[in-house]
Amino acid sequence: MGYRTVADIFSQISGTYDFFLKVATAGRIHSWQRELVSLMNPGGNWLDVGTGTGEVLLKLGENYEGLRVGVDPSLEMLRIADQKCGSCFFVQGIGEALPFRNGSFSNVSLSLVFRHLEDKMAFLSEANRLLAENGRLGLIDIGRFRGTFLLLLLMKTLLRPLGVLLFGRDRWSFFIHSVEESYSIEEIENMLRLRGFRIQEVRKRFLGVVYIVVAVRTASGT
Ligand SMILES: C[S@@+](CC[C@H](N)C(=O)[O-])C[C@H]1O[C@@H](n2cnc3c(N)ncnc32)[C@H](O)[C@@H]1O
Repeated sequence: MGYRTVADIFSQISGTYDFFLKVATAGRIHSWQRELVSLMNPGGNWLDVGTGTGEVLLKLGENYEGLRVGVDPSLEMLRIADQKCGSCFFVQGIGEALPFRNGSFSNVSLSLVFRHLEDKMAFLSEANRLLAENGRLGLIDIGRFRGTFLLLLLMKTLLRPLGVLLFGRDRWSFFIHSVEESYSIEEIENMLRLRGFRIQEVRKRFLGVVYIVVAVRTASGT
């Protein structure tokens, strides 16, 4: 599935996205995002890739010392983000080819985006290129773990009526597929190391369904 198809899906659900995410995570998404922010560098330009409705950038607050920049291929998601955060900068684009100069950011974040990326290694190369020395890359996402089959079962049964009601049958199938395609933490750590990152912090949340990983750029990652 190409990034245009993925972006189209998110454009179509942009109006209900925040509500669904809150329900699906029992409101926990906000505390995970705040936790991620607390583990990153305390200032400097911040890039949020796959920013969606801009929630990570919002959590940095108005007084954040540095530019707050969000990238997403979906214009509809960016429109909502722009309404929520007037002092943030939003750019339409994809994580695999980012239009910024080398070393321009202290922090790069992805919240619930990594498993949707078409080319994960290309993104990690870009994150490495854009980060200054000791810059941090922070990820929140659904990982593959022993209970993944249970989560999939829930999505295919209990959560299905709400998912189909809010998003439609095809788009709900897309979310199920994206969970089936998720990576284990070990796989993610290996990918990060291969692209010049040192693992700083790994936390599991939501009974191990969700991971928060923070890595530090230590070497060039080409
Ligand atoms: C599940 S949403 C996450 C939004 C937001 N980060 C959050 O935590 O609520 C995934 C977002 O990733 C974006 N996306 C999909 N493919 C992408 C890509 N290749 N590069 C960057 N963003 C992408 C989608 O358009 C969508 O807004």
